[in-house]
Amino acid sequence: MKNVDLLVGAQWGDEGKGKVVDILGSEVDVFVRYQGGANAGHTVVVDGQKVVFHLLPSGMLYPGKLCVLGNGLVLDPEQFLNETSELYARGQDRARLAISPHAHVVMPYHKLLDKLQEEARGKGRKIGTTGRGIGPCYVDKYARSGLRVEDLIDPDVLRERLTYILDEKNQLITKLYNQKPLPFDEIYEPAKKWGEALAPYVADTRELLRRAVDEGQHILLEGAQAALLDIDHGTYPYVTSSSTSASGAFTGTGLAPNDLTRVISVVKAYTTRVGEGPFPTEDFGDDGEKLRQNGGEFGATTGRPRRCGWLDIPGLRYSMELNGANVIALTKLDVLTGMGGIKVCTSYDLDGEKITKWPTDTRKLAELKPNYEILPGWNEDITWCKKFEEMPANAQAYVKYIENALNVPVALIGVGPDRNQTINRGI
Ligand code: GDP
Ligand code: IMO
Ligand code: MG
Repeated sequence: MKNVDLLVGAQWGDEGKGKVVDILGSEVDVFVRYQGGANAGHTVVVDGQKVVFHLLPSGMLYPGKLCVLGNGLVLDPEQFLNETSELYARGQDRARLAISPHAHVVMPYHKLLDKLQEEARGKGRKIGTTGRGIGPCYVDKYARSGLRVEDLIDPDVLRERLTYILDEKNQLITKLYNQKPLPFDEIYEPAKKWGEALAPYVADTRELLRRAVDEGQHILLEGAQAALLDIDHGTYPYVTSSSTSASGAFTGTGLAPNDLTRVISVVKAYTTRVGEGPFPTEDFGDDGEKLRQNGGEFGATTGRPRRCGWLDIPGLRYSMELNGANVIALTKLDVLTGMGGIKVCTSYDLDGEKITKWPTDTRKLAELKPNYEILPGWNEDITWCKKFEEMPANAQAYVKYIENALNVPVALIGVGPDRNQTINRGI
């Protein structure tokens, strides 16, 4: 029997994917990251201790389990080495990581170009990227000018490919952006060392996962970012550069669509967005500020304040369809405590018409006016609740409202950041 769960974000990221992965972790054999890179920030809190994962799967805190970095990931070696050494300093077991030789490497020039491109876009056009070099690295992958992990670990291949690639980058850096060129040795020497450090982890991750799936091991594929940031289906151009919805899991690992047994969609009980781009239910008033403060809505990667607002049902329906969600993990319900009436967007007004569909046109998304239903709130603390029935009736009703509106069961509810602040409804 196959046992492969895919966990994906439903909104614009930061839904609490890290926490949900960690909760499921005790039952999981293999944890996998398969797209995106160190733009992700996945937080796990155990006994009040907070750990933020950027590149590594959020299952790294489970001793003895295997963690895989798949081919679809863009791997920043510096970040990888920092993150692993921080973990190892806590006494983590080294044998648990496998990296695909086909993962693309985020190089220093990708991070520089990310910054220069954002500056050049200027106000009104910038995307508000995390500055982690993600877009430029994926551009090189598709332009077939990238360096893969396997290139980094062979000094001769690295020298040969980097010579030609860096020459091209320096043309861009000097002629288009009027910056100083990057000297070859300043890039080559550290890259060679990164290759040496990565080499012990490199394995045929596709085959490794294939065998694990066929043996019935429990695999958890951990998506980064979220459906509305998808390069194809998100609010383009205000998106990230990878396939963040369910389909990215196949290209990013080499597993096949019929390997999947379940899609878990992580939905935050309200909505946040970090960076630029349309956000129909954004609240610019006191409520938005209250959500930000109560929810600690500041970026786990960049520290930027997150934009906050209400649940968007048409947007979530779109996201559920895109991901083929079987169950929802609803997070941060506790943050709505004491908010008074809880707004839920059920339709929009656009060009004098009422619509209930998520528009295909990003420009229209920026223009539409949300129509809200206001649901009754609650004031009782719910952070201690372990059972659904222990929550106040209005909190229960909010969860049921979401299930009905999206036609997907809510199998897990987050009522606080800690691992044990969770209501399990049979996930
Ligand atoms: P991710 O990128 O989807 O993994 O989410 P982040 O880690 O970037 O942001 C989620 C934040 O909310 C983190 O600070 C978590 O510790 C916190 N969090 C997760 N679930 C809950 C919850 O149910 N309640 C509260 N109050 N905080 C939560
Ligand atoms: P997790 O996995 C929230 C956003 C950036 C920016 C856009 C493009 O923690 O949910 P990029 O650096 O990827 O080119 O930036 O995408 N973004 C995220 N927002 N959570 C994330 O990851 C994000 N990763 C990228 O803010 O708007
Ligand atoms: Mg995050």
